[in-house]
Amino acid sequence: MRLQYSIIISLISIIMFSQNKEFAPGKEWKDTDGVHINAHGGGILFDAGTYYWYGEYKTSGKSGNTSLIGFSCYSSKDLYNWKNEGIVLKIESDPNSEITKGCVMERPKVIFNKKSGKYIMWFHLELKGQGYNAAKAAVAVSDNPKGPFKFLKSYRPNKRVWPMGYKEEFKIASANENQLKSWSPEWLTAINNGLLVRRDFNKGQMSRDMTVYVDDDEKAYLIHSSEDNLTLHISELTDDYLDFTEKWTRMAPAGHNEAPAIFKKEGIYYMITSGCTGWDPNEARSFSSKSVLGPWKSLGNPCVGKDSELTFHSQSTYILPVSGKKEQFIFMADRWKPENPIDGGYIWLPIKISNEKPILEWADKWNLNSFAEKQ
Ligand code: DGJ
Repeated sequence: MRLQYSIIISLISIIMFSQNKEFAPGKEWKDTDGVHINAHGGGILFDAGTYYWYGEYKTSGKSGNTSLIGFSCYSSKDLYNWKNEGIVLKIESDPNSEITKGCVMERPKVIFNKKSGKYIMWFHLELKGQGYNAAKAAVAVSDNPKGPFKFLKSYRPNKRVWPMGYKEEFKIASANENQLKSWSPEWLTAINNGLLVRRDFNKGQMSRDMTVYVDDDEKAYLIHSSEDNLTLHISELTDDYLDFTEKWTRMAPAGHNEAPAIFKKEGIYYMITSGCTGWDPNEARSFSSKSVLGPWKSLGNPCVGKDSELTFHSQSTYILPVSGKKEQFIFMADRWKPENPIDGGYIWLPIKISNEKPILEWADKWNLNSFAEKQ
């Protein structure tokens, strides 16, 4: 009787709320229970015909950006209607755990490892009470896309390893380099020449905002804001996706990029990032490359039209290749609400490519069919 009752309730809620037929960027986005989706800084995995959206589960009020609950997961077949699958990586009650209540866990990204058959989640971890100083990449694993994920370990990547092609002369600190005035031309040159790579050589390189990318050859990469957020690092993962191969490169040194999101179209890799202004929006940047490890060419702001200088009041988090539609990519971004983080919104927009440059235009409403027609 109880079972029948809960089936009826589920059916009613599906009928009542499963009605989204389009994307409405920035508007409240209700899940199939009628509750605003709570999956911020998210990323998407497509697995066996289902999309899984993983994100930061935010709470209300000032402490809502610290991790009090964990990472959430939603599932969908059509990208418009999302079912809440619950918390898939829970914060741990042990006060000595690195993921104890009150730490900061951001930007979860899940990839599937074909060799091990495991689902691997990478995320940005800050230890409780240390602000953003720990700057670690962390990894968790599950046998199922719906979790539960088990926290494995955290890293400062590439400890005691120089980047690929790094010049011998940059391995040695120059006199007085630590006295240089921040943002002076000399300081920028020193950053470019590895001032902070050297500083973090023994401890491991920083990893704050991040994403993970699996290439066509199944090699995976962590792309992470490093060097005090001044330079992005691209670090190849081992075949099991749980560690680093020691093959890594730097991208846009001293360019101050956060929120990396990447996709590949017709053999060209594209990346969209933001500048660094905390929870406030800023102008996005775009890049292209013939290799994921670079060199990357700067292409400027991909956004056009009103509010393009503020990425339409949002910050990138992921670029989703739409399954079965090889040429369709969705730009996913967060509209942060630091005063009440649970209210944060989602900006999903179609990406157009024009002359090998990504273009983002605002749309109040759109769907995958209208997107296809525009291409
Ligand atoms: C901007 C980052 O992109 C977010 O993920 C978060 O780390 C905030 N900064 C914190 O201020």
